[in-house]
Amino acid sequence: MNLKIAVLPGDGIGPEVIQQAIRCLEAIEESFDHTFSYKEAAVGALGIETVNDPLPQKTLELCKNSDAILFGAIGNRQFDHNLDTRLRPEHGLLKLRKELDLFANIRPVKAYKPLYDRSPLKKHIVENTDFIIYRELTGGIYFGEKKTWDQGRKASDVCEYSEKEISRIAHLAFKSARNRRKKLTLIDKANVLESSLLWRRVVSAIGESYPEVNLEFCYVDHAAMRLVLQPNSFDVILTDNMFGDILSDEASVISGTIGLLPSASIGAKNVLFEPIHGSFSTAKGKNIANPIAAILSAAMLLEHFSLFEEAMVIREGVDRALTKGIVTPDVNNKTKYGTSHVGDFIADFIVDHHDEVTM
Ligand code: IPM
Ligand code: MN
Repeated sequence: MNLKIAVLPGDGIGPEVIQQAIRCLEAIEESFDHTFSYKEAAVGALGIETVNDPLPQKTLELCKNSDAILFGAIGNRQFDHNLDTRLRPEHGLLKLRKELDLFANIRPVKAYKPLYDRSPLKKHIVENTDFIIYRELTGGIYFGEKKTWDQGRKASDVCEYSEKEISRIAHLAFKSARNRRKKLTLIDKANVLESSLLWRRVVSAIGESYPEVNLEFCYVDHAAMRLVLQPNSFDVILTDNMFGDILSDEASVISGTIGLLPSASIGAKNVLFEPIHGSFSTAKGKNIANPIAAILSAAMLLEHFSLFEEAMVIREGVDRALTKGIVTPDVNNKTKYGTSHVGDFIADFIVDHHDEVTM
């Protein structure tokens, strides 16, 4: 298969983890006879520094014309005080989501056995946790009308959703649940918010076309509690932009390190894959950043194009690295390995695995 991949390494540790993800993709190309092309472009702080735009036009064009986007991380403290929010690195990511209509953000959360002890939760609670969050990404309070008035003494953000915005992500979530443990939890605040009532109505109606999926509703405040009391009671979570943002950060610590978690953002024409950790600027260039979230994002990219066996080999490589203790300091603070060792190990595993199969 030929794939045109737009690579946006971004800020902080973005470039070094993306480098390892690409190493693994190259190992896949070699082993499975695919041809991927990689074209790099600036985003975030780098965009601001070079052309005063966190999402330069050239970058946007490259993304639009790609089959998939591999994204590193965004954010640089230096720009946090920019009063014009359009000149903050984060704005580059928000604009990219909106321009490419990347409406569904998919974040799988899984507890790995060798890491149970790293979790802030007790072992019997974290055991067997394996769920996916479907977060709506281009609507809601993030993108509703924003106003300040009364000389800046009052401000408002509107949370607005349409039936169409809800149904397109709901279908994806139901399909995912159908292929998994057949349970879908809609998380909302339907006891207070009109927009949540709309979510319930639309999602309930769609549920009738997926009779094998068990649909349940959960208020967001209770969901926040259930995520730490019984994380393994979730299978597929569906929620709006804001609740999804907050809950996915909460969920990301369950596995013991945020350094393992990948994500996909799906639109009608474009798809983007990125580790969910941020730019972690203090670790930049120290060879300590965990490349696994970026590498697993590459695996999600392959799955998106139905390259399931290829993705599986990457996942096996990751499992092997964790079991053998080839890990970065976020997983084991006494480790002697760094970013590049973990990447090398997984890339070598991919190539060796192929030799084993073909010999
Ligand atoms: C995320 C991030 C972004 C968001 C920020 C950087 C704008 O927190 O991807 O979850 O809030 O969506
Ligand atoms: Mn977030």
